[in-house]
Amino acid sequence: MDAKTPSLSAVTLARLMGPQDANSLGNVHGGVIMKMVDEAGALAAMRHAGGPVVTVRMDSMTFRKPIFVGQLVTIHAELTYAGRTSMEVRVEVQAENPFVVGDITHTNSAYVVFVAIDEHGRPRPVPPLEPENDIQRFRMEQAQQRQAFRIQQQREESAAVEEQSQRKEHE
Ligand SMILES: CC(C)(COP(=O)(O)OP(=O)(O)OC[C@H]1O[C@@H](n2cnc3c(N)ncnc32)[C@H](O)[C@@H]1OP(=O)(O)O)[C@@H](O)C(=O)NCCC(=O)NCCS
Repeated sequence: MDAKTPSLSAVTLARLMGPQDANSLGNVHGGVIMKMVDEAGALAAMRHAGGPVVTVRMDSMTFRKPIFVGQLVTIHAELTYAGRTSMEVRVEVQAENPFVVGDITHTNSAYVVFVAIDEHGRPRPVPPLEPENDIQRFRMEQAQQRQAFRIQQQREESAAVEEQSQRKEHE
């Protein structure tokens, strides 16, 4: 499979926030932004994989600034890592006041992991990721470390669940 660069699959989505996205004070719900993050990330992953993907992990998301009704939310998603079947996508969220040119706030960043799947829902191999510059190379190295940590965590969680179910069987 030929390698692909991050820019080949990068995606930018934009949507104006309306009253249906917010509470009575006009603050946009975090879940609305999380859904957009998942959608933008999945689109970038689908482009890289050339087929369907599912979300396996969304790293913690911190909202540094509130987003309000009337702001234009722009989400940029770009691949930072491709394993055999998994991909990490860096997603950046910006909120803009469309009345004032340049009034843009970076509200948060997140990392989301997707797995490409075949028609039976089983993991499917994806093309390698080829960085084009030093920033992308640096992000890829960091992503490899994050993914190694997640896999370790996943193993520990699975072992704990297994141990618990064995204990219940013996009770
Ligand atoms: C994604 C899914 C198909 C993976 O199946 P699986 O049997 O765990 O497959 P594997 O153990 O072979 O893992 C597949 C890849 O996912 C990675 N992975 C699995 N769990 C992970 C986690 N918690 N965090 C990061 N990566 C993970 C593995 O490292 C592997 O990557 P690699 O092939 O690049 O090395 C399965 O877990 C699933 O269907 N999950 C539900 C997904 C879903 O419904 N999401 C919400 C709606 S989109």
